[in-house]
Amino acid sequence: MGGAVLVKELTRKQIESLASSPEGESIYGNRYLLEPAPDNELPQSGMSAQEAKGLIEEEIVLDGLPARNLATFVTTWMEPEVDDLIRQTLRVNFIDHAEYPQSAEIEQRCIRMLASLFHAPGETTGARTQGSSEAIMLGALSLKWKWRARRQAAGQPIDRPNMVFGGDVHVVWEKFCRYFDVEPRIVPLQPDKYTIGPEDVEPHVDENTIGVAAVLGTTFTGHADDIRGINDMLVSIKRERGLDVPLHVDAASGGFVWPFLYPHSEWDFRLEQVRSINVSGHKFGLVYPGIGWLIFRERGDLPEDLVFYENYLGKRDATFTLNFSTGASMVLAQYYNFARLGHDGYRYVMETMKYNARLLAQELEAIGEFELIGSDDREQLPLVAFKLAGEHAFDEFDVAAQLAGERGWMVPAYTLPPNAEHVKIMRVLVKETLGCTLIGTLGADIAQACKTLAAKGGMHPSERKRRVKTNTGF
Ligand SMILES: Cc1ncc(COP(=O)(O)O)c(C=O)c1O
Repeated sequence: MGGAVLVKELTRKQIESLASSPEGESIYGNRYLLEPAPDNELPQSGMSAQEAKGLIEEEIVLDGLPARNLATFVTTWMEPEVDDLIRQTLRVNFIDHAEYPQSAEIEQRCIRMLASLFHAPGETTGARTQGSSEAIMLGALSLKWKWRARRQAAGQPIDRPNMVFGGDVHVVWEKFCRYFDVEPRIVPLQPDKYTIGPEDVEPHVDENTIGVAAVLGTTFTGHADDIRGINDMLVSIKRERGLDVPLHVDAASGGFVWPFLYPHSEWDFRLEQVRSINVSGHKFGLVYPGIGWLIFRERGDLPEDLVFYENYLGKRDATFTLNFSTGASMVLAQYYNFARLGHDGYRYVMETMKYNARLLAQELEAIGEFELIGSDDREQLPLVAFKLAGEHAFDEFDVAAQLAGERGWMVPAYTLPPNAEHVKIMRVLVKETLGCTLIGTLGADIAQACKTLAAKGGMHPSERKRRVKTNTGF
């Protein structure tokens, strides 16, 4: 009996030569199977198109599956017909209005439809943006410009502008204040109240307030600030103190939800002090990432000197943006949704998501370990925010990590802003793709995660750190 025959290990060069045709072309694999992917330096030579595609596809399998991302507000699924439309129009630069006049016309149609949905009193204007963040920057800049003009006209100082909003806002509001030199006056939340109302705002408003921002559908719990109450308080301040303080509504998520689920609830231009509204097309507008909208109450709410006119691309053109070149696809995709769904279609989608959110809430209540944030009769985005009730040997971060580990669901756990920072929350966005069957599965998976944790105790901090999503989702 002879011993095992030892086959000499091949060098990398020898393995590569196995893959070469007699003409020296590689016929198997690609060179990045044997060396790291291009990283710090542009590689000297390239590779075939197929290889380049494979290289990237192989790597992004490590990204999460968007359909399991229950943290994000942003759209993760659209119809195949619109996927096709997006592919066809990827090469169109939206800002070339002279070259692509129909895309520009379609943008204007979207703005008009949104202005009408938000009850603008007459003809108005607005802007397509990259998302709500750009829309908020532009809307808040308009408030600053208008305030400055009013102060200058009255011979008053303009060196100390401030803006008032609650701790429940998205980080973009603080970002605006820092980037554009405005003092943020942030009303803290309370241990058991996670939105703000007129009584919270009033003490902070003065002659240097460029505006108040209120949220329709907060990132943290999906509820709305008391926008009507804040409006009424600002109306009284105007009548009694002669201070005309505008209200901007951050309807990033709520702007496509409230008109269909709560049409009689007044939060928009039906209220006297609301001068501008932002909404994310890529959230409940049901379009992929890259589209937001800013809508003014009246044309006059957009200060003329924030609009830039140039002749650069063949025609005198007006722009009101922070960015310049960008794709037209998402504008066209937004218009597709408006035409395809109409009012009834959006209502169908929102009602379905709300119904399924209720179903998930019932599943969670049946587990007996959780408390829901907000009651059934409170207006809310189609999501379920919840926390553990009573004493447990584990916390919400452990549940999120266990759920990710066992089933790959991405459900965030996070703490609320001051003064409610001791409150830990979990939150599930119930999208169109989370239907009745998956809701049942998710409920069972959450129950199982709790059982596992009850048996084994909370996670080790190092394990938890790797697995859990701690931002509030976007
Ligand atoms: C209330 C609110 N405002 C603003 C934003 C920022 O929006 P975008 O991601 O569209 O820039 C978000 C994002 O989650 C949000 O929830």
